[in-house]
Amino acid sequence: MDKGQGPLTTCVVTGAAGFVGSHLCERLLSLGHTVVGVDNFFSGRPENLKTFASHPRFFFHERSVTETGLLTALKDQHGPVFAVFHLAAIVSVPYSLERPEETFLVNTQATLLLLEEAEVLGVRNFVFAGSAAEYGDRDRMPLTEADANEETRWLSPYGEAKYRASVAVASRRGSLCGVSLRCFNIYGPRQDPSSPYSGVISRFVNMAVAQRPLTIFGDGLQTRDFVFVSDVVDAYCLAGLRDDKDDIKRTSGVFNVGSGRATSIVNLARLICRLTHRPESITFGPERPGDIRHSTANIEAITRVLQWKPRIGLKDGLTRTIQWMRGSG
Ligand code: UD1
Repeated sequence: MDKGQGPLTTCVVTGAAGFVGSHLCERLLSLGHTVVGVDNFFSGRPENLKTFASHPRFFFHERSVTETGLLTALKDQHGPVFAVFHLAAIVSVPYSLERPEETFLVNTQATLLLLEEAEVLGVRNFVFAGSAAEYGDRDRMPLTEADANEETRWLSPYGEAKYRASVAVASRRGSLCGVSLRCFNIYGPRQDPSSPYSGVISRFVNMAVAQRPLTIFGDGLQTRDFVFVSDVVDAYCLAGLRDDKDDIKRTSGVFNVGSGRATSIVNLARLICRLTHRPESITFGPERPGDIRHSTANIEAITRVLQWKPRIGLKDGLTRTIQWMRGSG
């Protein structure tokens, strides 16, 4: 798979100091592109920028995506922008339940304004960080892109706000190609394990490395679709770096990004214990309120249209995450 297609360009990455955003910046720089990173450190962390902060082709702006005229100001300073990778968002579901208005303002409204600005400025590709939360709670797996629609009962303002933005990005007509990547459960190095709402893999790996028991919420038979961060970065690059003008209509759209496989939480816990060479130390607590039972992506569309497929299997991805956690702990 060629992830560096097209010319060398200037790309804007919002949420550059986040878990996925920082990996994306690193990859774009390694492919030779110039990267203009934006983050207001609401949830992003300065240490995520450490490995590339002083790269000669990396420029950082501590600003919010809600600022009017943000892209125009960046273009004035850094020249024409080829692609905008818009990952900055309120990422906490519990926070979105407490502050729905702010969530819509940041996750939907600011996206619509950035999108309009990008179009006026002649940006070629706009890639948005969608979410599996756009599907709400569904019974039938795997989920195909059409399963999120106006009938969906979202479990949080976060899910609805991401859905509204995804639809706007994907239905853009004109010279701008809009792609929303509906990512399932992303994991890997730099994912913050410190909050109760952190991704289950970062929590489990953190506990296992610290030789503490892993706590499963509920019976552990709930399943998720785990996708390694470098595979997600592959998808961003395939969507954002393409330059085939005739292909805009075909490529614009919403695409699931997952492994296409269901993994139960109890099997995940066992695998992490095995990979960290410790006896199985697993406890069971009450089910987490509002938890969905199953979530698996159908990845046929992204495989067909963007020729993307996940390359890192769960065992390999967990091994890399464990190595990182050991090194950073
Ligand atoms: C993810 C989001 C969540 C959002 C949902 C919508 C993250 C971290 N969570 O939740 O905010 O509402 O998508 O699609 O992005 N678990 C344990 N023990 C733990 C931690 C988690 O058993 O210590 C379980 C959870 O109860 C859940 C599963 O592991 O059943 C996965 O949890 P999590 O990683 O939070 O992901 P989602 O539930 O998919």
